[in-house]
Amino acid sequence: MRAVVYDNPFSVSVQKVPKPTILHPDDVIVKITTSCICGSDLHMYEGRTAAQPGIVFGHENMGIVDEVGLGVTLLKKGDRVVMPFNVACGRCLNCEVGKTAFCTNVNPGFSDVTLGRVLVDSCTSLSNSYVAMGPYQGGQAEYVRVPFADFNALKLPPGTQNEEDFALLADIFPTGWHGVQLSGFKPGESIVVFGAGPVGLMAAYSAVIRGASEVYVVDRVPERLAKTKEIGCIPIDFSQSDPVKQILDRRGGMEVDRGVDAVGYQATTGDGKTEQPNVVLEALIRVVRPTGGLGIPGLYVPSDPGAPDSASAKGYISFPFGKLFEKGLTVGTGQCNVKAYNRYLRDLIIAGKAKPSFVVSHNISLDQAADAYTKFDKRIDGYTKVLLHP
Ligand SMILES: NC(=O)c1ccc[n+]([C@@H]2O[C@H](COP(=O)([O-])OP(=O)(O)OC[C@H]3O[C@@H](n4cnc5c(N)ncnc54)[C@H](O)[C@@H]3O)[C@@H](O)[C@H]2O)c1
Ligand SMILES: [Zn+2]
Ligand SMILES: [Zn+2]
Repeated sequence: MRAVVYDNPFSVSVQKVPKPTILHPDDVIVKITTSCICGSDLHMYEGRTAAQPGIVFGHENMGIVDEVGLGVTLLKKGDRVVMPFNVACGRCLNCEVGKTAFCTNVNPGFSDVTLGRVLVDSCTSLSNSYVAMGPYQGGQAEYVRVPFADFNALKLPPGTQNEEDFALLADIFPTGWHGVQLSGFKPGESIVVFGAGPVGLMAAYSAVIRGASEVYVVDRVPERLAKTKEIGCIPIDFSQSDPVKQILDRRGGMEVDRGVDAVGYQATTGDGKTEQPNVVLEALIRVVRPTGGLGIPGLYVPSDPGAPDSASAKGYISFPFGKLFEKGLTVGTGQCNVKAYNRYLRDLIIAGKAKPSFVVSHNISLDQAADAYTKFDKRIDGYTKVLLHP
């Protein structure tokens, strides 16, 4: 089958790779209809993670069940499904309490449990695995193997309706929602979202749906800022001047209730080029009111081969912890527990109450992936959210 393979930093290509097969009775094979490119893919694409050449990219996958393992009970051939970007076993402690992003079974890095090791060995070699999402090949391909399929595949209405909206249930819509949730947000409150990439736009949209009184969104990319206006948010261009001052000036000096970091460790200063990994955290601590909350879905990593300084290369990010403490701010971090939200967000889409696909900028064929990665990485030509179709 054809798949998007990571060759080396700043290079992917569509290559022939073996079609996945059922390796465990709980597996299904899904024929991909849509797989999205994500900002998280760019960290790997740029060589800024431990991802090794040869892996198949793609963690935002949806399609039609094509083959079913003998142990699968809830799915059948022909079902239309979307999968959370982070594979989870459904049986470990974290999965049991709904924290599926921290499944210790498929992420041996999180723990040393023997079962994790056994699973890794029986699945595929770790060198081919996806970074911090379990030892699995990606779905920017014609087919993908879904482990623990009853647990991981969310069923969708049959047909082709809302394909773009449902595809976003794999990651960015739940992740944006999660960012708002992590901040401790309550209806009626004001909130600022740093980053108007797909995740930031989804966080802003979630805050709107959840009844925010004011939503500020900070970025510097004109097309992205324009999208924030479309959904009733207030765009703040940080290439113009200090975004915190801009927000405080508009609010007569009053801070906002909540803040979301949808940028992560590759944050830049206003020039859009100079990386400064602590710049968003610092701004959030300044702009959120005492006893408010910060939600941090933006990615930070324990080791960064391309970091601008030796401390952040080891994941040490300096920020004013004293000020954070003085203000009594709460902080929530981490990957999104997609399964905690995806079925409810699916139902909002079905009911016509959410239409997250307003972020989608491009629908293209899998064969055009290399060019799309280049443009999305440069954030040019309006490349905001790219959906690949095999
Ligand atoms: N927690 C999770 O489960 C999860 C899931 C998906 C993605 N992510 C992470 O979320 C982050 C955002 O993802 P995305 O797909 O939207 O990425 P993206 O790269 O498309 O968007 C990031 C945006 O941040 C802007 N930006 C850079 N520096 C900034 C600053 N100082 N202030 C304000 N904006 C700034 C950029 O202009 C860009 O538009 C990434 O770090 C990604 O890895 C986390
Ligand atoms: Zn993603
Ligand atoms: Zn688990």
